[in-house]
Amino acid sequence: MLRYSISLLVLSFCVACGPSDSAPTQDDGNNTLIAPGGKLQLAFEVNDAGVASYSLSQGYQVIIPASGLGFTFDGAPDLKANWQIQNVEKTSFDETWEQPWGEQRLVQNRYSEMKVDLMETVDPKRKFSLTFRLYDDGLGFRYHFPQQAQMDEVMITDELTEFTLTGDPHCWWIPGDWDIYEHIYNQTRFSEIDATSKRDHPNLAQTYIPENAVNTPVTLKTEDGFYLSFHEANLTDYAGMTLRVNKDSNRFESALVAWADGIKVKQKVPFSTPWRTIQVAERAGDLIESNLIINLNEPNKLEGDLSWIAPMKYAGIWWEMHLDKGTWDLASGRHSATTENAKRYIDFCAENGIRGLLIEGWNTGWERWIGFPDREGVFDFVTPYEDYDIHEVVRYGKEKGVDIVMHHETSAAPRTYEQQLDTAYALMQELGIHAVKTGYVGPIIPEGERHHGQWMVRHYRKVLETATKYQVAIDAHEPIKATGLRRTYPNMMTREGLRGQEFNAWSAEGGNPTDHLVVVAFTRMLAGPIDYTPGIFNLSMNPYKPDNQVKHTLAQELALYVVIYSPLQMMSDLPEHASGQPGLQWVRDVAVDWEQSKVLNGEPGDYVTIARQERGGDRWFIGSITDEEARSLTLNLDFLNNGQTYRMVVYQDGQGAHWEENPTALEIEERQVKGGDLVDVQLAPGGGVAIMLEPLSQE
Ligand code: NOJ
Ligand code: CA
Repeated sequence: MLRYSISLLVLSFCVACGPSDSAPTQDDGNNTLIAPGGKLQLAFEVNDAGVASYSLSQGYQVIIPASGLGFTFDGAPDLKANWQIQNVEKTSFDETWEQPWGEQRLVQNRYSEMKVDLMETVDPKRKFSLTFRLYDDGLGFRYHFPQQAQMDEVMITDELTEFTLTGDPHCWWIPGDWDIYEHIYNQTRFSEIDATSKRDHPNLAQTYIPENAVNTPVTLKTEDGFYLSFHEANLTDYAGMTLRVNKDSNRFESALVAWADGIKVKQKVPFSTPWRTIQVAERAGDLIESNLIINLNEPNKLEGDLSWIAPMKYAGIWWEMHLDKGTWDLASGRHSATTENAKRYIDFCAENGIRGLLIEGWNTGWERWIGFPDREGVFDFVTPYEDYDIHEVVRYGKEKGVDIVMHHETSAAPRTYEQQLDTAYALMQELGIHAVKTGYVGPIIPEGERHHGQWMVRHYRKVLETATKYQVAIDAHEPIKATGLRRTYPNMMTREGLRGQEFNAWSAEGGNPTDHLVVVAFTRMLAGPIDYTPGIFNLSMNPYKPDNQVKHTLAQELALYVVIYSPLQMMSDLPEHASGQPGLQWVRDVAVDWEQSKVLNGEPGDYVTIARQERGGDRWFIGSITDEEARSLTLNLDFLNNGQTYRMVVYQDGQGAHWEENPTALEIEERQVKGGDLVDVQLAPGGGVAIMLEPLSQE
């Protein structure tokens, strides 16, 4: 049973109480906000020149020193001074809501809020407001411009939000690319960030940003021992935000991705910006457990029966193209998406309890995909190649209990895609297909628009809204970043938005580094689910890619099913590579939807262990992964029912396992444990461990 505890102190209530703390004046020093648990404190200030700043602290420790706010516009004066507080309104909120799927079923949304209404003291006397929501694990704030005679159309040329730092924190970051998030993470001090020279993805639509900026989420460890992460929530009809590195002032500054004409955001009042978020934790794992980003999004808009939004494992006619065993296009004569091959994969799925099958390369257009400047009108999202009988494949899938996952590679020609949206999604509805993987490889057409600019933010939303209409869930590759929209649209299930598994098959730099995923867990994963596509058993990729290798062990690959959260979780290797592997039993068993999740330990860039309880069941699954260092960890099973006996199955690095020399040494051990036991695990260099805990019925 779902129980809500709601205590909402609304404005009308404050007004009824009198003006005591609901409407302090500008200089009464009371523009502060304390988080519900009493630790974090936010202060908002407007100085004599009308310049505003906010700061964040915990006790006497300053976490974010005074940081500026404001905007510049095209065709209107800057909005960065002459501000005057008109009204301050403080409220608090506490509710628990239920996710249709997720890392946990119940989410507490508890915050203190301060809404500050502001006005310019000089012409044009524009009105706007700032809303701060202070949680026990961080801060979200956003600007709002109400309807007013002084403003109508708004052309934002810069948002001047700052995130000032104390000392010289360690940072885990990727370059603030306007088109792609598929970069290797760097770990440096703030003072050493050099995003303009860190380029490692030469083959897709990356942008050589002119200034030193990072993408979000960017995660930091301060000299005082706080873990921080900066990101944004509810990115709606606005540009994606990168963070410029201002070393002179020791701060990050909002740097929005521009339209082709250089304007950053085109809006009409009334409108709100996305929330700017600062996660704060004293334990690194608490960053992962935080719900700040989803809480800052609007509640679920979807009505009625949502059973069509189904968390599941899926296989794919996919990896074989990345290995170049086959191709997406028909003309090569090595086409992978044939009816016959699809049936082979369906059989594999049915045998192994894998509910979904993605089929890429099924539709016409792949002959003019990568590298063609003229990509408009090329892809057709309803016409299969002649050797692929879509109706027969869907029928065969249904017979075997396997759902087909649709694929739409747009080749970054979104106008062509938009023209076909309705027919393409209607076809899915007709076939009973409820999930699609989308792709946006290449520079956006029209030229100059960016994957992460407002133009594309609008496009991604249009696709999501269309998908909603036709009851289709989305797995977006080359997406706009996740900002918690899955709360509002639970059919926005997962996305790529990082260097995924595919880089291991073909990237010129030799794939993803061994510490990639222990960084990803504390950076990209804070934004939302990741379609990393685990499930490679043939880590050396022989005979297809003899020079490439997945740079971690098989036990780590299995652990990713728990560590890297996605409600659509891939079993990515070829059926002939996975079949007969002892580790495949883990993939069969592991859950994809969770009642609760706990981060047992971890440090960004080093290691992380996550335990998750399956939703609708009593089993727990644990995944632990390490960088190139071997580790001995003790796991405290105090989250299990005390005294209950569990059957524990451990998939661990075998004797001599090593990510480079011996990645497939896997040892499977089975024994009994009790809730509250301590369990020692050994992780090889680049290794991991995957554990299933199943309660045994009490005698
Ligand atoms: C890039 C995606 O990340 C990948 O998974 C897909 O196979 C190709 N695009 C083709 O759409
Ligand atoms: Ca990609």
